[in-house]
Amino acid sequence: MIDDAGKFVEDSKARIVAARDEKEVEQVRLELFGNNGAITGLIKQIPTLPKEERSERGRLLNGIKQQAEAAIAARLAELRGERLADIVETEAIDITFPGPPLGRGHLHVLTQVRRQIETVLESLGYQVELGPEVETEWYNFEALNLGAGHPAREGWDSFYFTPELLLRAHTSPVQIRAMQRIKEPPIYIITPGRAYRRDPPDATHLPYFSQVEGLAIDKALTVGDMKGTLLYMIQSLYGVERKVRVRPSYFPFTEPSFEFDVTCGICNGMGCKSCRHKGWLEVGGCGMVHPQVLRNGGIDPAEWNGYAWGFGIERMAMLKHDVDDIRLFYESDLRFLEQF
Ligand code: DAH
Repeated sequence: MIDDAGKFVEDSKARIVAARDEKEVEQVRLELFGNNGAITGLIKQIPTLPKEERSERGRLLNGIKQQAEAAIAARLAELRGERLADIVETEAIDITFPGPPLGRGHLHVLTQVRRQIETVLESLGYQVELGPEVETEWYNFEALNLGAGHPAREGWDSFYFTPELLLRAHTSPVQIRAMQRIKEPPIYIITPGRAYRRDPPDATHLPYFSQVEGLAIDKALTVGDMKGTLLYMIQSLYGVERKVRVRPSYFPFTEPSFEFDVTCGICNGMGCKSCRHKGWLEVGGCGMVHPQVLRNGGIDPAEWNGYAWGFGIERMAMLKHDVDDIRLFYESDLRFLEQF
């Protein structure tokens, strides 16, 4: 019987070594050492044996038992080791692995258009000149021939901090600052920047927007020089098929003054819904600098003259990209911004 047990334990050891997981090892362990296990049974029989055989049998069984236990422990350790290696293999985090790529942004469409305008005019020799957005009443109005009580002030009425200090209503005050700074003509500058007006927001108005002002002061400049410069700018930005025109208008700081129009890009000047069937879209104002404005800037109108213009950058971007609502530029909606 003890020989049978020995054989059984040998078979069991083979099964332990071949066990594929901890459950299978446990199964064999129960068959050997469980309440009804083979070795448990043999140990229970010891007291029924003749006295002289008992200790010999006891030693024998102990040996078998130790061997079986050692085999179980060894296989379990092996299986756990395998499992750990498995975990290391499949679940480990590789901290050197690069993360998902970050989405790359790009310049806001208004910044793109402003830079394009700057690039075109810089190629003609113009320099970028910046001025303060909080402006004095004198630079914003007075120096541009808009004295107190002038009816044209109403259209540019802005946000006041004090009676003398306000958010500039246009970029035109930088004309005066530039003349004062540079002093000696010729002067060829453009002044991109923010402007503020008391306009309620709608599809074509916002209380804050951007303008780009141009100022050229030299000897014997003509309306033709101005129109040619602006035609070159418009065709560089929008394509050579665009036409431009000037219409008589009124600004206190220019004489003569004009509205400046560009042919609609959607219908090519034929007239369509987006240009209200006119074929033309208005970009801004322009004209020959008023002699008094030159004087206010410290320049002698007997010796020098010049032309100036002031265009809305949003308006120019709308013209370029066929955008029909100015508010879209400031809503930070990526579905809109990512198109440019
Ligand atoms: N400052 C004017 C405005 O805000 C635009 C303008 C018109 C600027 C004529 C000029 C100009 O320099 O000559 O609407």
